[in-house]
Formats: sequence, structure tokens, C-alpha cells
Amino acid sequence: MKVLPWEKSSISKENLIELFFKNSSKKEFSSQEEKLKFLDCWFNIYLDKWPENVLVALSPKNEFMGYLLGCFNSQKALPILKLKISSYSIFEEHFYDFPAHLHVNVSNDFQGQGVGKKLIEYFQNMLKENSIQGLHAITSSDASNIQFYAKLGFLRVDEKPFKNWNLVFMGKKLFDYKIV
Ligand SMILES: CC(C)(COP(=O)(O)OP(=O)(O)OC[C@H]1O[C@@H](n2cnc3c(N)ncnc32)[C@H](O)[C@@H]1OP(=O)(O)O)[C@@H](O)C(=O)NCCC(=O)NCCS
Repeated sequence: MKVLPWEKSSISKENLIELFFKNSSKKEFSSQEEKLKFLDCWFNIYLDKWPENVLVALSPKNEFMGYLLGCFNSQKALPILKLKISSYSIFEEHFYDFPAHLHVNVSNDFQGQGVGKKLIEYFQNMLKENSIQGLHAITSSDASNIQFYAKLGFLRVDEKPFKNWNLVFMGKKLFDYKIV
């Protein structure tokens, strides 16, 4: 398997969108407009603003296995993302320690083969090269992906209720800044 920047791959935006909806926890939409709004909030914004942080994983036969969407600086992105994602600012107090965030999605056919791990490791290396001290992912307390993040060294930093969800902030420090 290999991980590479989406922009250097032959994977189309349609391939990414297909996987986005396949693995989305939300399946029912009252209208096409609602569906497009959902896509816009959780997906398009990352491709538009940070296309260089979109990573894809390909099998040795060049099959599309999964993707990662990433943002290096969650605090800087706050004015844009809080307009799109209503829960975005509830964990703002942790953005300094864990500045980057990500969304990862692996196709059902390829789950459990180390794809998610490899995508996140690649993203972490990008962050280290840019001296970014930490990263986070937000999930919900009933999601099994909490164990996935825990396996990769993310800690359960915080937990807050939001609408019908109990959101969990999973954070990982890559290194500590030292004041010298
Ligand atoms: C969560 C997800 C990204 C994991 O990707 P993956 O490629 O299946 O996971 P990996 O094979 O890289 O797993 C890495 C480690 O985490 C463990 N792990 C993965 N998913 C797990 C789960 N649901 N429960 C417990 N452990 C899990 C694996 O066993 C593996 O452990 P090991 O290193 O000891 O073998 C993938 O299942 C997925 O896309 N799910 C649907 C969308 C989603 O939940 N995305 C995250 C949104 S916050």
C-alpha cells in the first residue's frame, strides 16, 4: 500500500465523495440541497482550502483504499469552519496544544489492514516537518473509532455534549515546545 497527496494521484473528486457518503454516519437527507450542504460542511471546505493536505491510500493494484482530510491550524481556520460546522468551536480551548485536525475514511473493503494508521502517520510526518506540535480528531463517545485513535497514541482529552451527541476530543502531542 502507498500513501500520497491526492493532488499527485489519479483519484478523482467523485471517488472521494463516493467514499465520503458510503462511510458517513448520516445516511438520510430530506432533500438534495440538504445533502449538498452536508457535503459542503464536512468535505468540500477541506478540498477547497487545504487540497495539499488531502491524502489518499492506494493498494499495490492502484485500488483506492481511503483518504484523509487535514487542517494544520484549527485556530486560524475557526472563522471559516465555525460557519460550516456548528460544533466546531466547542473544543477551541485545546487548539493550542493540538493545533491540527483530521478526518479519515477507509473503504469497508480495506478496513483493518493498517490503511487508517498509515494515512495518519503520513499526516503526522507532514506536521512534524512544519513544526506543528500536535493534532486531534473529534468523534463521539459511542463510536468504535475511539479505540482506533487510542491505538495510534491519541488521548481522550475532553468530552462535551452537543445536540444529541457526546463529542470526544482525541488529541496527540507530537512534541512539546520549549521556551529557551
Ligand atoms: C476508523 C478507521 C479510519 C480505521 O481505519 P482502518 O484502516 O480500518 O484501521 P487500521 O487497520 O489502520 O487500524 C490501526 C489499529 O487500530 C485498531 N482499530 C481500527 N479500528 C478499530 C476499531 N473500530 N475498534 C478497535 N480497534 C480498531 C486496529 O486493530 C489496529 O490495531 P493494531 O495496530 O494493534 O493492529 C476506519 O475503520 C473507517 O474509515 N471507519 C469509518 C469512518 C470513521 O469512523 N472515520 C473516523 C471519523 S472520526
